[in-house]
Amino acid sequence: MVVRAAAVGALLTPAALLYPRQPPRHSVRSTPDKQRSRPSFPWRLFDLAHAEASRDSEATPLKSVKTRIDTLPDIPAAEVRQHGRDASKIYVTYGDGVFDVTDFVDAHPGGRLILLAAGRALDPYFESYPQHKQHFVYEMLSEMRVGNLVRDQQWVEEVDKKSAHFAIDAAYAHQPSRDDRLIVRSERPFTAEPPAQLLVREQNTANEIFYVRNHMPVPRIDEDEYELEIVDVHGNTLLQLSLEELQTQFEKSCVQTAIQCGGNRRTEMDEVQLVKGGVWGVGAIGNATWCGARLNDVLQYAAEQSGRDVKQVMRDVRHVCFEGLDRDVATDTHYEASVPVEVTEGSADVLLAYEMNGQRLGRDHGFPVRVVVPGVVGARHVKWVGTIRLSKVESESHWQQRDYRVVQTLDEAAYEAAPSIQYMPVVSAICDVQRRGKLVQLRGYAWSGSGSGVARVEVSCDDGKSWQAAELLPTGADAGEDLFAWRIWSAELRVEHARQVMCRAVDASYNAQPAHVRDVWNARGLVNNAWHRVVVDDAVDANNAP
Ligand code: HEM
Repeated sequence: MVVRAAAVGALLTPAALLYPRQPPRHSVRSTPDKQRSRPSFPWRLFDLAHAEASRDSEATPLKSVKTRIDTLPDIPAAEVRQHGRDASKIYVTYGDGVFDVTDFVDAHPGGRLILLAAGRALDPYFESYPQHKQHFVYEMLSEMRVGNLVRDQQWVEEVDKKSAHFAIDAAYAHQPSRDDRLIVRSERPFTAEPPAQLLVREQNTANEIFYVRNHMPVPRIDEDEYELEIVDVHGNTLLQLSLEELQTQFEKSCVQTAIQCGGNRRTEMDEVQLVKGGVWGVGAIGNATWCGARLNDVLQYAAEQSGRDVKQVMRDVRHVCFEGLDRDVATDTHYEASVPVEVTEGSADVLLAYEMNGQRLGRDHGFPVRVVVPGVVGARHVKWVGTIRLSKVESESHWQQRDYRVVQTLDEAAYEAAPSIQYMPVVSAICDVQRRGKLVQLRGYAWSGSGSGVARVEVSCDDGKSWQAAELLPTGADAGEDLFAWRIWSAELRVEHARQVMCRAVDASYNAQPAHVRDVWNARGLVNNAWHRVVVDDAVDANNAP
């Protein structure tokens, strides 16, 4: 894959500042050799015809470039370092090769960027700018070879560090465009939530302001090449499905449900005692109508295709693991999470969703396919799902074993003792506060992962001594079809002297919220469902509210 202008531009920013980009004085495509300033120019290969003829992306480096040549002298790393950008002779290395590029610097099509590698290794730069991985470039390089590199520890560490850094840069080079209204909590990986007031304007959260919690760079997936693999407990592939097959061979099913990040309302926990985790206000939750194929239908079909009965295939299965196509380049791991098999078997609403609010999924929301498991913490709604693995054990991924568990300390024993978070408890939050004199209009959301629906929301302005019922707004879905949907609510309170208003909800299974954040405090700041309090005078945006 050749990284073209936009991506190169994105990767170059810091370097471009250091070395203002000059138009290359000699270009591969337009400059015949005879125009070049040095008649003795040794890289005759640099002419267009030759270059085009040997243009071969992802070519393997020539032996004369990368490997040791016994007839050439050994040059220790310390000596190469001395041939930096200010030296009279500029050296670079690639693999085991040392090259004198002094006369090439001015001719380099990428301008003086080449000096970033002066006295150093080219390897990470060539990974980062893959246009170099071509046969004709290697030929040019072999013409400049002067010796064999003898590495020292410092050299090895520097190359490793730079390679990892560039690989991450490259992975983040093609992220989706995002709505300006999102409050960005982290750029890499991208996490963002909408301003709280926007969140409760409509029953379904608009796709472009729906909170985003990525764990890695957003993968670039070609829908024509996308394949979903189903793997049985023995590690055998039962089925591979293209996106088209998923969309056409299974009945399309839709569910309106909220999805909430485990860390929603984390910042309130910091006031009790600092927690470890990214900042989230009340907006790491959203409600949408998701459509796709039912997981159970796909599993049934997978069993049939492999000539077995679904009961037989599911016999030893205790957990269903979902692996995403997003990948951490530094550790070469994919995001993965699992849910107990009872969760999937018991619900026709567990979907392999390809639509969100009537549109195809956006890249930040898992295009082309994400898992939707109504009621369960957002971390299990794996985006960009590529593999579904039926398993006897929970996912062994970091996010299942060492994250998304409610622990009081961050040691291994605490994680092992705590169950992974699955169904979310009843929660509510005040998102919009409008004050007119003593009258305060409140608007917020309430949700319960129990799937029984929200029974009641109440608000108070006297620190919970008395409560007033809020009005629950309709979800727009048929009765019984919206039990996993959140409820937007509104209330009007007469506030005499109080500065603080609060809300609490009860679900239809009579689960209630705890009164104080301290009751649910935990070291990672997860699953905060305490009564939500907002200071009225300051309350414009509940994301900033204490
Ligand atoms: C001796 C080492 C190097 C050689 C032989 C070399 C050679 C080349 C060649 C032949 C091209 C044109 C490729 C094409 O059009 O297909 C090119 C482009 C480029 N090189 Fe290098 N390069 C070297 C080092 C570097 C380094 C260290 C960097 C960055 C730090 C770099 C950055 C670039 C960039 C950004 C371009 C694209 C320029 C454009 O299209 O405008 N190069 N290089």
